[in-house]
Amino acid sequence: MKALVLAGGRGTRLRPLTNTSAKQLFPVANKPVLFYGLEAIRDAGIVEVGIVVGDTGAEVRAAVGDGSRFGLRVTYLPQEAPLGLAHCVLIAREFLGDDDFVMYLGDNFLVGGIQELVAAFDPAAYSAQILLTPVDDPRSYGVAELGRSGQIVGLAEKPDDPASDLAIVGVYMFTPAVHEAVRAISPSARGELEITDAVQWLINHGHHVHSHLITGYWKDTGRVRDMLECNRIVLESIETRLAGTVDDRTEIVGRVVLEAGAVVENSVIRGPVVIGPDTKIIGSYLGPFTSIGAGCTLEDAEIEYSIVMNSSAVRGVARIEASLIGKGVEVVPARRAPNTHQLVLGDHSTVRLRG
Ligand code: G1P
Repeated sequence: MKALVLAGGRGTRLRPLTNTSAKQLFPVANKPVLFYGLEAIRDAGIVEVGIVVGDTGAEVRAAVGDGSRFGLRVTYLPQEAPLGLAHCVLIAREFLGDDDFVMYLGDNFLVGGIQELVAAFDPAAYSAQILLTPVDDPRSYGVAELGRSGQIVGLAEKPDDPASDLAIVGVYMFTPAVHEAVRAISPSARGELEITDAVQWLINHGHHVHSHLITGYWKDTGRVRDMLECNRIVLESIETRLAGTVDDRTEIVGRVVLEAGAVVENSVIRGPVVIGPDTKIIGSYLGPFTSIGAGCTLEDAEIEYSIVMNSSAVRGVARIEASLIGKGVEVVPARRAPNTHQLVLGDHSTVRLRG
């Protein structure tokens, strides 16, 4: 069994952060979302992993390397343009050979790993297995319609009028039968070779496709609010570890991870919160479900339910909530009259100002 991890794509729903960075490397509790997937693959006993990369390939390679730190052997498979998930299978043909494989979308976040799913897959009985989970708004996912006995009746990619609330989760299991399917299908209206269409092709051509309903937590981290929710879920289970320094004017309540070299002075921290190495928190309030990256400065600031990436600074600003702040960002008050906001924002930024 091999794994095919998809870490290309443009991440348009997370612009402008994805203009410069791979969405799969965005931090959840200060660890790239992709690493949770790689660990899940390793824990399922898989060693050979192909990672499909696009424009942000160099960044993904720098972060993951040869995979040995995860106990994996990683092969990089460059995709010349984001031409669809089924296109990734096409270009991975040689790497995959005639092995069964799990295909894992690098921006998907699954609590509980994939061990059981991999163990339960029976290639003698099915050509493929998809995971389904109920969602509030299925229109931004692949959607499955099931028959009375749970068999898949039909699949549709991002339908305007979904036949059910069952979204296709971004972890699929395939036998080599899928190779014929990805060669046979045509690009969708959005110009991509859809894996949903390849699975439908298998069904249409008499293959048995097994569907498995998951009830555990799953998110596609393609949007800001999903990133924040994943961050919350991971922070729910952290244990306190204070490797940095905390002065006696600081009040810490709840579970907090403070990495080595981090300094907290005269602040209030209500966990769960993680604070990266070499970050300074001075005279500030950090509220629940907040992750602050490495080398950041928070001074006279208040922030909660947010993610701040490496090397950013927030000074003299209260209160920031439900925010995703990229790398090397500075958030400071405007100093002089008139009473105006002064903004330097990248393309596709979102700012919500109060008052
Ligand atoms: C892809 C698939 C979709 C699936 C989703 C899960 O969508 O096309 O069927 O439900 O991943 O994350 P994308 O996020 O690439 O638009």
